[in-house]
Amino acid sequence: MEKGEAPCHGEVMKQAGFSVVVLAAGQGTRMRSDTHKVLHPIAGKPMLLHLLDTVDALGANRRVVVVGKGREQLEAALAGHGVTTAVQAEQKGTAHAVQQASEALTGAEGPVLILYGDTPFVTGETLQRMIQRLGGSDDPGVVVLASSPPDGKTYGRVILGEDDRISKMVEYKDANEAERAVKLCNSGMMAVASADLFRWLAQVGNDNAAHEYYLPDIVMIARGEGRHPVAIEGEAFETAGVNSRAELAHLELDWQRRRREEALEQGATLIDPESVWFSADTKLGRDCTIEPHVVFGSGVSIADGAFIRAFSHIEGATISSGCEVGPFARLRPGAVLEEGAKVGNFVEMKKARLGRGAKANHLSYIGDADVGTKANIGAGTITCNYDGFTKHRTVIGAGAFIGSNTSLVAPVSIGDGAIVGAGSVVTKNVAADSLAVARGEQRGFVGWAKRFREKALAKKGVS
Ligand code: UD1
Ligand code: MG
Repeated sequence: MEKGEAPCHGEVMKQAGFSVVVLAAGQGTRMRSDTHKVLHPIAGKPMLLHLLDTVDALGANRRVVVVGKGREQLEAALAGHGVTTAVQAEQKGTAHAVQQASEALTGAEGPVLILYGDTPFVTGETLQRMIQRLGGSDDPGVVVLASSPPDGKTYGRVILGEDDRISKMVEYKDANEAERAVKLCNSGMMAVASADLFRWLAQVGNDNAAHEYYLPDIVMIARGEGRHPVAIEGEAFETAGVNSRAELAHLELDWQRRRREEALEQGATLIDPESVWFSADTKLGRDCTIEPHVVFGSGVSIADGAFIRAFSHIEGATISSGCEVGPFARLRPGAVLEEGAKVGNFVEMKKARLGRGAKANHLSYIGDADVGTKANIGAGTITCNYDGFTKHRTVIGAGAFIGSNTSLVAPVSIGDGAIVGAGSVVTKNVAADSLAVARGEQRGFVGWAKRFREKALAKKGVS
């Protein structure tokens, strides 16, 4: 058996003519959650959708998700994915669960991959190896994906015979001491030809410790027909399942570690990789630098050479090359920074474009706004975009200069090259190249402060 590589975003060749059954009818009680277990996110994306992306990339013909309790949540999450659901009303075991997919797979030809919704990171390469092994000249009938995790816990064990042939599959509950000591564990995932699958499932009984219909039993049933089921080995990361919040957190961490390695490999500088958190869809260009403690929410794309300083939180943002962000910046969905734009500390942006070379360097809120090329947004500028009912837009022209502590009460526009005096509350449009000052006029009273101080001291009896 050889181990497969499991990168986060491995590219695989399409594989013709196979179906997928994803089991997701289990209760997931140990999560203690109102959210269905397989919808808990890793890197911001539900586990089940990670898995479906992998099988989609491989080109599955038919995809059936077996659902039970909480099926409404799954059906909502799967809307638009072109997936069939099959209902397992009562959870009687993994073999019984797969049986529920028989109607949805009527007429299906070729291999069926049986996968688990709570084991999201099996790679396309490994699935492809399973399919290829199933089609081997020895016609094994069943290919089981196994792994040798550092701690085998209560996984079922795979007892090998000659070469990769399986002599026995045994559930932990049913295993003796010697069998429990075997390192090779059943991931639960299998490849079986659709022509055989349902015939073998129909023969599975429930005479075992859990009184459940065990899917691994089809291995022995296939052997009864003279076939020689085999195991292939995947990495522990690929076969790691989630049953509890702790396992969810560990798998998230494993995913992040791999993603950080991938980012470094692809030419990004992460000064402290362990403190950078990615989303499943984060796009990073070459030669960008990410300082410590940066969190990427979903929908972020960062072009070559951008610089993200420490403690920034970035979500739904498009950052062009040569941009600088942070430290302590918050970019929310719809933030677009064009080439060379800069966003500094304690600046929040939402649904706003910062044109080429524009700057908002300190303490600002820029929401529902369009900021032109090379405009300068002074410290403490606020776009007042919300009147309590509706959002309104602010448009700032190219080369405009907004003085510090300005409130721009939207809807409002500042023309190209205009200057707004510091401390202004701007409620009317400002024409191009003009100066707008909207604040109380300054008055001066010569000697007033001195007189005031002397009077006050005299009252207190201080000379
Ligand atoms: C199963 C395997 C075990 C393997 C382990 C790997 C069996 C009998 N045992 O055990 O050999 O090491 O997975 O994680 O197959 N499910 C249903 N309907 C059911 C029962 C389960 O849809 O009636 C789904 C669950 O949602 C889950 C998957 O099948 O996605 C596995 O079920 P689970 O109960 O976790 O099986 P294990 O006891 O872990
Ligand atoms: Mg399990």
